Order: sequence, then C-alpha cells, then structure tokens
Amino acid sequence: MAPFTLRWGIISTGGIATTFAKDLLVDPATREVTDVQHAIAAVGSRSVPSAEAFITRLRNAGGASAHGVSHAALDSTTAYGTYEEVFADPAVDVVYIGTPHPFHHPNAKAALLAGKHVLCEKPFVMDLAELDELVAIAKEKNLFLMEAVWTRFHPIAYAVQREIHSGKLGRVRRVTAELSSYAHLDERADNDRMIDPKLGGGALLDLGPYPSVWSMLVLHQHPDNTDQAPQVLDSSQRIYARNGVDELSAWTVRWDGLAESRILCDFTAWTPRDCAAVIDCEHGQLIVEHPLYRPERYRIVPHPSTVAGSSESAPPPPRPGQITEESVHHCPIPAGNGMHYEADEVARCIRDGKTESARMPLAESRVVQGWFDTVRKQGSSVLKDLVGNAGK
Ligand SMILES: NC(=O)c1ccc[n+]([C@@H]2O[C@H](COP(=O)([O-])OP(=O)(O)OC[C@H]3O[C@@H](n4cnc5c(N)ncnc54)[C@H](OP(=O)(O)O)[C@@H]3O)[C@@H](O)[C@H]2O)c1
Repeated sequence: MAPFTLRWGIISTGGIATTFAKDLLVDPATREVTDVQHAIAAVGSRSVPSAEAFITRLRNAGGASAHGVSHAALDSTTAYGTYEEVFADPAVDVVYIGTPHPFHHPNAKAALLAGKHVLCEKPFVMDLAELDELVAIAKEKNLFLMEAVWTRFHPIAYAVQREIHSGKLGRVRRVTAELSSYAHLDERADNDRMIDPKLGGGALLDLGPYPSVWSMLVLHQHPDNTDQAPQVLDSSQRIYARNGVDELSAWTVRWDGLAESRILCDFTAWTPRDCAAVIDCEHGQLIVEHPLYRPERYRIVPHPSTVAGSSESAPPPPRPGQITEESVHHCPIPAGNGMHYEADEVARCIRDGKTESARMPLAESRVVQGWFDTVRKQGSSVLKDLVGNAGK
C-alpha cells in the first residue's frame, strides 16, 4: 500500500523550524518507516522573502539529500509572508509551530480555529489556562493537537522505559534529571529569546521540558503508578539580575506511592556529559548520557557499594537480582536529527483519525505545564505573576 503523505505548513523560519523541516525531508526508509511520509506544503514567515529563503535553504541542504531526500516533498511548497495564510491554505493538513513560547498559544489557537491540526513546539504554552483553551478548541473541532516533545519518540526513550518497566532493575527509588547548558547570557542581546521576558526567557521554560521527559516516561508511565497528578514538593530559582528571568530552576516532584524526581535546568553550567539522568533502582542504576533532548547512549551500572575496591572492606556478596557488571547500550538515530519520529507519530495519528497521541498525551503535557506554573509562581522571576493569553 502507498504510504500516507502528511502535508505540513511550517510557521516561522528560525533555528528549530529549520531542523524540523530538514528532518521531514529525510527519507523515512532510513528509519525503516514505510507507512507514512511527509511533504512541506507551505512555509509562513513574517515576510515572503524570509519564507522563500527558508525553502531555498532546504532545497540546497546537502546534508538532507545525503539521506536520500526526495525533493518532490518541496516541489509545490508555497511561501507566505504571514502565518494566517498558512492556516488558510487548503493544501495544508497540519501546522508546525516553531515561534518563541509566548506565541505558541495565539498561533496554535488561530491554526485550530482555521481547521488545521497542530504540532506545537515545547514548552507548549505559557500557563495552564492557555493549554486548557487549546485542548478545548481542538476537542470541539475534532482536530489533532500535540506538544512537540521529540525526545519521547526516540529509540532510546522506548529502550529505557523497557528496561525500567520490565522490573529487571527492581523498584525505582529516585529519578534525577538535568539539562544544563552554559548559555553565555552576558553576551546575549536584550531581545534574545533566551533572556527576554517578553519572549518567555529563562531556563525553566526553555530547558525544563527535557529533564521532565525522563521523569514522565519512567515514573508517570510506570505500570505501578497510580498518581496522575504528581505534585511539586519544593522548588528554587536563581534569577539573572540583568533582566529578571530565571537562569536556574530546580524542583522535586513526588508520584505518591512510587518515587520522587529531582529536576534541574541551568543556563550557567553544563550537565555532566556522562550522567544526565540517573534512574536509581533497587538493583542498580540506569544512567542516560547528555544531552537529555537527544541522548543515544545509556549505561546500567552497579550501585557504588557493590563495586570491588569502592570501600576499604570487600563488597558484600550481591543480593539476588543485583547488577554487578556495567553494560553500555547504544540507541543511534540513523539519519537526520531525530525530529522525524514525532512527525511520523503525527502522520499516523491524523491518518487514523486520532485527536491526540497515546505517546504524548495532552494530559501529560498538562502535568508538566502545571509544574512550570508552580515553579514560576513559587520563584521570584519577573514572570512570576504572568497570566497567559487564554480567552483573549
Ligand atoms: N524541540 C527542540 O529541541 C527545540 C529546540 C529549540 C527551540 N525549541 C522551541 O522552539 C521555539 C523557537 O525556538 P528557536 O530556537 O527556533 O527560536 P528562533 O531561532 O529565535 O526562531 C523563532 C522564529 O519565530 C518567528 N517569530 C515570530 N515572532 C517573533 C518575535 N517577536 N521574535 C522573534 N521571532 C519571532 C521568527 O520566524 P519568522 O521571522 O520566519 O516569522 C523566528 O525566526 C521555542 O519555543 C523553543 O522552546 C525547541
């Protein structure tokens, strides 16, 4: 049977929209996908020349064609100088939103109201009320809506879940997850989206979604989890004095009856390269390597006390099930950057008439967005009292 072709409208032409669009053009066969494929029907920017330049850059992207790109996917792409024209284009099935965070809600709302399915970059929105409004519109119009948390769809995400949920490592005791990236804040312009409060600046919303992914996959989706509303127990933020956004956010979440997770994101230091998420379990630890948005390697390691030479006395004999040898596991993304996996999910859901993804459900976006709201309100950044655009 011929693959189902999903026709995308891309709005915005910045960094992540470029990465996403290039991944749409990677031949699905390189990741052994034969049932769906992608075409870019339209690109919307704040000016026509910018949209045209974006399409030209994609056509000339040698890296993409090296993966077997069919340029047919770009043959009939229309360049628009407004986002609204993309929403109105009958050749577009789904809109990808890659604008800065505060525009996600108004852009997604306008796309949904125009009758388009939506894939929206992380963080989904600025507050829970915005998310609830989008979900209500999507449900009312029977349209697909998803937050673009691409990491959830990577081979390693499934592999780590299988390891932990199989019970091989025993009960999960704690998940510690960090995405930190030294962001040279002092060298950035005031209107840089990383630090400009008007563009949703700060570490919480920019980096926070990624460590949260691992806590959600491992704990929230754990077969033994019964807590669908895990709460933030404590949080802290450190503020970047120049403009008052958070340069660091950290918080702890508890899944009642299961385990806790400590989550950290920081613009002023780097995550340890070989240890970005630690899933501490009864029989050993599973360690996911940096970067948490696109890791390709994890290790299963013994607890420190079971390693010979780690203490003055000989280690005690291993308990039943205890891990005694380190193992290293590679989960490569064979071609492209890896955003195509989430695009495949969107294509399959839309093909099958679904309005949300079982892998990235709206209820789980709601959980994480709720943590962001709580951490923001408990902190002292200039966005502390922010009220989003719901209802406007
Ligand atoms: N999934 C991921 O791994 C990932 C990675 C990076 C970023 N993101 C998310 O994607 C979003 C965009 O990030 P980015 O790094 O791509 O940003 P960026 O490079 O600054 O691009 C943002 C684009 O949004 C459009 N835009 C519309 N109104 C704007 C305004 N007032 N100011 C600036 N740009 C405006 C512009 O495109 P036009 O001029 O064409 O309209 C601009 O190129 C953020 O929400 C971010 O969290 C996700």
